[in-house]
This record gives sequence, C-alpha cells and structure tokens, in this order.
Amino acid sequence: MTSTTASHAADLVAALLFILSLAGLSQHRTSRAGVGYGIAGMALALVATIVLAAQSITAGAVALIIIAMALGGAMGLWRARQVEMTQMPELIAVLHSFVGLAAVLVGWDSYLEVESHGSAQTRIAADLLGIHHAEVFIGIFIGAVTFTGSIVAFLKLSARIASRPLTLPGKNALNLGALAAFAALTIWFTVSPALALMVAVTVLALALGWHLVASIGGGDMPVVVSMLNSYSGWAAAAAGFLLDNNLLIVTGALVGSSGAYLSYIMCKAMNRSFISVIAGGFGIEAPSRGDEEQGEHREIRAREAAELLAQASSVVITPGYGMAVAQAQHPVAELTRRLRERGVDVRFGVHPVAGRLPGHMNVLLAEAKVPYDIVLEMDEINDDFAETSVVLVIGANDTVNPAATDDPSSPIAGMPVLRVWEAEHVVVFKRSMASGYAGVQNPLFFRENSSMLFGDAKQSVDAILQALVDAGPHASGPAAQQTAAAG
Ligand code: TAP
Repeated sequence: MTSTTASHAADLVAALLFILSLAGLSQHRTSRAGVGYGIAGMALALVATIVLAAQSITAGAVALIIIAMALGGAMGLWRARQVEMTQMPELIAVLHSFVGLAAVLVGWDSYLEVESHGSAQTRIAADLLGIHHAEVFIGIFIGAVTFTGSIVAFLKLSARIASRPLTLPGKNALNLGALAAFAALTIWFTVSPALALMVAVTVLALALGWHLVASIGGGDMPVVVSMLNSYSGWAAAAAGFLLDNNLLIVTGALVGSSGAYLSYIMCKAMNRSFISVIAGGFGIEAPSRGDEEQGEHREIRAREAAELLAQASSVVITPGYGMAVAQAQHPVAELTRRLRERGVDVRFGVHPVAGRLPGHMNVLLAEAKVPYDIVLEMDEINDDFAETSVVLVIGANDTVNPAATDDPSSPIAGMPVLRVWEAEHVVVFKRSMASGYAGVQNPLFFRENSSMLFGDAKQSVDAILQALVDAGPHASGPAAQQTAAAG
C-alpha cells in the first residue's frame, strides 16, 4: 500500500469517527463516547496529513508544523482547562473566528501561489483555473464573514460591547447590496483575477460579517453562535477544496450542515425566522430600547420569602444565568429538599435558552443532584403557573419577561417565555434592577404580585435556608397540613 493510499484510508476512518462523534453527542448517555470518537478522528487526521505532507516538504518544514501544532495544542488545553462554564459560548465564538481566519489565509495563499508560479507549476490544469479562482473567492468570502462575525459574537457574549442590535439606516439594503457586490466581483475575478479584487472581496466580507452579527439582538445570540458554527464548517470545506484535502471537505460539510440544522431547531424553539436571523435580523425593524424602569417595585427580605415558602403548597423555581454566576445550584437543591420534606410540591421550569449554553441549567441542577423528574421544560410547565403559590426566579430575566408576549415593539417580542407572572407570588432573586442579556427592562419586576430579593443569589438562598432552619423543622404549609390530615 502506498502512503497516499494509506492516507486516503486514514481519511475515511477519520471521517467515520467524526460521524460517530456527532451521533454520540446527540444523547446525554453517549456524549462522552462521542467526544472520544471526535478526539480519535482528529488525532488520526493530523497524523495522516503530516505523514503525507512529509513526502513533499523538507524535514525543517515538518518540524515547524509539529512545533506550531504543539504550541497551538498547549494553548488550547490551557484555555479549555481555565474557562468557566459561563464563558463557554465566548470561547466557542473565538474558536470559530480562527476557522474563518484560516480559510481567508488559505484562500490568499492559494491565489498568490497560482499567480506567482502560474498554473503550469501547480496542480491545477489550465482549463480549470476559472473554477480555482471561484473557489478562492468563495472561500475567502465565507472565511472573512465567519471571522469578523465571530469576533463580534465574542465581544457581545463577553459583554465587551452592548448586546443591543445595531440598526444602521437601510441595514437590509446594505446586506443585500453586499451579497450582490460579491456575486458581481466573483464573476469579474474568474475572468480577470486581479489583486485589487482579492482585496475588495476580503474587505467587503469582513464588513458584512461584522454588520450581520452586530445587527442581531442579545436575545438571538444563541442562534447566532450555532449559525457561526455552521459558517465555520462551510469555511473549512472551502479551504478543503483549495488544499485538495477530502477530509477537510467532509468535516467542514458535517459541521456546516449540523450547525445549520441546530440553528433551524433553535429558531423554531424561539419562534424566530431562520432566514431573518441568518440574514442579520432581516425584516426586523428598529426595536424600542425598552430598558427604562416601568413603575415601582417591591422589595422582600429573605426571612419574609422563607415565610412565603413555608405557607406555599406549590413552588416552581425558574433558574437563569444568575444562578450559574452565583453558583447557587447547591443551596437551591438543598432548599428544594427541605421544602419537599415539608410537603411542598417543588418543581423546576427550565427555558431552552436560560443561561449561556444549551442545557446549561440542566447540567447545573444535575450536578447539584436535583431529582430529574421534577426538572421540567418550558412547554411542560407553562400551563401550571396559574395554580402555583410561589415562583422563585433565581437569576433569570429575559426568559421570564412578559414583554415578549405583551409588547410587539420589544426586541424580544414573540420569543416564548416562562409565564411566571400567572402565579400567586413571584420572588425575583437578583442584585439590582439591571436588565437581562437582551438589554430589555422586565415589566415582571413591577407587577403587583412580584417582589425583588436583592443580593447574590447564593447568599439569598442561604439566608432563606437559615430562616427555615430557625423556624424549626416542622411542616407548616397547607400542603403539609393536608398530608397530615390525610394521614
Ligand atoms: P439573563 O437575561 O441573562 O439575566 C440574568 C440575570 O441574572 C441578570 O438580570 C442579573 O441581574 C442576574 N444575576 C447575575 N449575576 C447574579 C448573581 N450573582 N446573583 C443573582 N443574580 C444575578 O438570564 P436568562 O433569563 O437565563 O436568559 C438568558 C439570556 O442569554 C437570553 O437572552 C438568551 O437568549 C441569552 N443567551 C443564551 C444562550 C444559551 S444557548 N442559553 C447563549 C447566548 C445568549 P443583576 O445584574 O441585577 O444581578
């Protein structure tokens, strides 16, 4: 077997491992195995690529590749070990930007190689040069859009810039104009591949990527992250065509299509138009700012909240990003245990985009050993709020915002939310009256049946636990009394 055949065989095995990895990652139970398949596939792909490359480049060049890989690998390992769970989306956005940048560099390299050596000394047949030029152009375009789009996503997710959507006048016309200009430049470039056109498409795509993501509001960022994941896949596939690397094409297509499908599912869950989000908020007009205070709010202290809970027959806890920041899941689990011991019916309502990662709240609650059967999804619990005595909103904000259903001009209008305000009492745990991730004020805080429990969520839950302990172990709530009477 020649080394080229061996390399193709390794590519095939690696591609199968990547498919197994995606299949494994689709379920909790098999996700660890999925990660293992992915690591094995990537290790095999790297070894096969280097072994094949070693035949046509000098030993010094191979050494440089290995040094670069070791440095990159060490940096990746260091960052991944340090990153907090709440910073994962930022990290993912940065990694997508690297894929985009790599595709741009591969495109430029491929163009300069053909221009300086001519097609005679490259692997490209003269009659296929036009196709090569189109590949270069498309690869650079997708890569540059992914690069700047991912940087804006990183800046928004890490709160280095405001998450509010940028609404330039005629923003839809700007995006459509950029696409039309790209199509015209591509045709021009295949006929006459001038350096100025390369510069023009790079600048155009960098600006478009920036504008597309800047135009999308904070509430839609989960979809943007998965959309950029998809773009980075297509950018990798484009680089695969330029490098004549089949595995990169297959892997890029896997990432591109699975990311696109995830974006589609998330758009459906959040009642957003897929086309509108991938087109940088196409068709969404400038929303109202909606971050101003809307009346008087009431405050409640931990001891009073504990009394409310002790009298409750049913409690629903809706956790959000603030619970993750405060790392309040363990005291929350303890509070759940104590209330259930007192005969209170306690359940959790988890919004699909609560926190900063898909499944963020489920992971935290599972870590704190909250029983799985009392953790319900939004659709499973939304009709029960009207019969609930007390809702504890622990560090959630956008996901419980009634403006999404009541105010058509709100930036989050139409997004399904947990209808916590239908309960008898709502206690909101947060540190201030600040708005949530989408930068929109929450009318829930000013409702008659809502009270604000200010402070760090962990400290507030600890204080409630203490108050319950001080009040004694005996059940006092209606549920407990009913249980006692029935017994
Ligand atoms: P958010 O709307 O982000 O609000 C979190 C609230 O937690 C804030 O209002 C903050 O108020 C409070 N908070 C922060 N630290 C706290 C602490 N130590 N103790 C108590 N409260 C604290 O939360 P959410 O309801 O979970 O909504 C998630 C948002 O993120 C959505 O807009 C979603 O679209 C977006 N997003 C989600 C994802 C995914 S996939 N889940 C990814 C990217 C973006 P104070 O500052 O006043 O304390």
